[in-house]
Amino acid sequence: MQNLIRTSDFTNEEIISLFDDAKLFLDMKSRDILKGKVIVTLFFENSTRTRSAFEIAAKRLGAEVVSLDVGTSSSSKGETIFDTVANINAMCPDAIIIRHSECGLPGTLVEYVDCPIINAGDGTHAHPTQALLDLFTMMEHFDGKVEGKKVAIVGDVRTSRVAGSNRKLLPRFGLDVCFVAPDCFKHESNDHKQYDNLLEVIDEVDVVMSLRTQLERHNEIYFQSLNDYAKDYCITEEVMGDRDILLLHPGPVNRNVDISDEMLLDPRSKVLKQVKNGVAVRMAVLKKLILSQ
Ligand code: CP
Repeated sequence: MQNLIRTSDFTNEEIISLFDDAKLFLDMKSRDILKGKVIVTLFFENSTRTRSAFEIAAKRLGAEVVSLDVGTSSSSKGETIFDTVANINAMCPDAIIIRHSECGLPGTLVEYVDCPIINAGDGTHAHPTQALLDLFTMMEHFDGKVEGKKVAIVGDVRTSRVAGSNRKLLPRFGLDVCFVAPDCFKHESNDHKQYDNLLEVIDEVDVVMSLRTQLERHNEIYFQSLNDYAKDYCITEEVMGDRDILLLHPGPVNRNVDISDEMLLDPRSKVLKQVKNGVAVRMAVLKKLILSQ
């Protein structure tokens, strides 16, 4: 049985095939491909896009969705996550989608269940479906010719699971990833070139991926106000100029901190296209994992 815990769970060939399906699913029509299947979502961290995209994807494919409200579940009575998942598994779902603050947790749950597990984000570790939809959006934008394109991931790369997954996935398809961040948000590894300021590299990049500052994941206070961070890292019209750059953000966007109001309206921003693509890509993921059981 196949799971999706990290992007390396899929080969490049599998990802290309997944994207072929996702292109068809972009029509957002309802289908019966997963009719009779039941999918459980367990979101132990908040979500707008990922949770609703998975739920809509499952319903578009004809599956039933059970979304456990973890706030009112028996976790509050002391039940461990392993027992919660074992109990859900005993009800024989066809897939479990989980988001949790603990890095690596979805991977450890694989041994406790009889259906595919899909990681919808684990702490600072990975967010594989986000990286897949980001790559899909880049492929769509560049007509499939992404090899050699340079991507600057800007912001809190240290704690971002989106950066964590993209930095591994994108180079597999020939994209060159660099990071732009203040020292406090720089990535701990030196696998990618890191810059202090986007202006140092903006004339070389084809894609800017802005990230949310995840202050809740840091133990120290680095900025008195997010405005101090925004002065140097907000993606504005002034920073972008008239350059032909694809602007992405996984959401949620902190307006005028990550990206300015004006740039969110600019045709170079494909933030909402990412969201739509996220439904299609997740439809393809659900079809692949559930039908290959
Ligand atoms: N991109 C993303 O994971 O957004 P949510 O936290 O709203 O799911």
